[in-house]
Amino acid sequence: MAEKKKIILTGDRPTGKLHVGHYAGSLKRRVELQNSGEYDKIFIMIADAQALTDNADNPAKIRENIMEVALDYLSIGIDPAKSTILVQSHISELTELSFYYMNLVTVSRLQRNPTVKAEIQMRNFETSIPVGFFTYPISQAADITAFEATTVPVGEDQAPMLEQTREIVHKFNAVYGETLTEPQMLLSENQACLRLPGIDGKAKMSKSLGNCIYLSESEEDVRKKIMSMFTDPGHIRVQDPGKLEGNTVFTYLDAFSRQEHFAEYLPEYANLDELKEHYQRGGLGDVKVKKFLNSVMQEELSPIRARRAEYEKHIDQVYEILRSGSETAKETAAKTLEKVKHAMRIDYFRDPVFLAEQKEKFQKF
Ligand code: TRP
Repeated sequence: MAEKKKIILTGDRPTGKLHVGHYAGSLKRRVELQNSGEYDKIFIMIADAQALTDNADNPAKIRENIMEVALDYLSIGIDPAKSTILVQSHISELTELSFYYMNLVTVSRLQRNPTVKAEIQMRNFETSIPVGFFTYPISQAADITAFEATTVPVGEDQAPMLEQTREIVHKFNAVYGETLTEPQMLLSENQACLRLPGIDGKAKMSKSLGNCIYLSESEEDVRKKIMSMFTDPGHIRVQDPGKLEGNTVFTYLDAFSRQEHFAEYLPEYANLDELKEHYQRGGLGDVKVKKFLNSVMQEELSPIRARRAEYEKHIDQVYEILRSGSETAKETAAKTLEKVKHAMRIDYFRDPVFLAEQKEKFQKF
């Protein structure tokens, strides 16, 4: 048998511009995986249909962010020659798959999904949870299986979705025969990247808290945000010993700085451990550390900014990338849907024995 193809599927909800938390947690890794040449196919999905599950009254917000997210993808180095970028709502097959998968999942199983639970609380849905929102883990299983993904690089918060997907795959294959591919989740290996805090030190970066650094932000705005970052509130004078725990600037350095950055921007220190050691001992001011972080971040963000500026001049090309990517993706998903219906034996008009079987049953003369 031919070796199984390695296929990536991942995506983001287009509810806003992507920020450095997305970048550290998942986007950067995607580009590395894309460029590793190890994958046969890569699908990156703008999950507009999923975004609508809790934004039914505001489709304009989703519409506005389709192009923003596409530009974010292209600017970080997602290459349309290597990766297929698609818009979820264009792939109607995903909805059909979801409908069949719904029969394999119980309400109580959905209620146990910790990410959905947390989101329900955050949005104050309580007793008014939209059914579509409640069932989005099932639709996410459709996304993943439709493209026969073997690998799903995502942020840590998506682990429950992957678990649910794998359960659906097992159940489907057990009931209808080996059909769907079981996906593996791929997390960032860098602990600091798993959940980058907001610039105010709050656990999560979120647009409503106004504590994000966006990939598309200007150099000056990024600098201002870094210089205003939360550090150790007890570190008042330079000579005071400083704490690393909960210190956002150091969390960002853990996520983004590399050994080479020291030689280039802060040669008094050989590496991050030395810098941390000095900070804890006392005698190292926040401003100096923040300036270093700014250099590191600007080095990461400036090529992203430059690429974005180029693509912004050619929106018609970006539109075409999305349109043709969505077409290609639709063809792939249609093949999986065909297999699924065949496995369930509901492909009556493609099934050569269906008619013969029914004739045998009814035409007894
Ligand atoms: N739930 C993901 C998020 O909120 C977006 C998403 C939708 C996704 N479908 C997916 C991620 C399939 C990975 C695979 O960011």
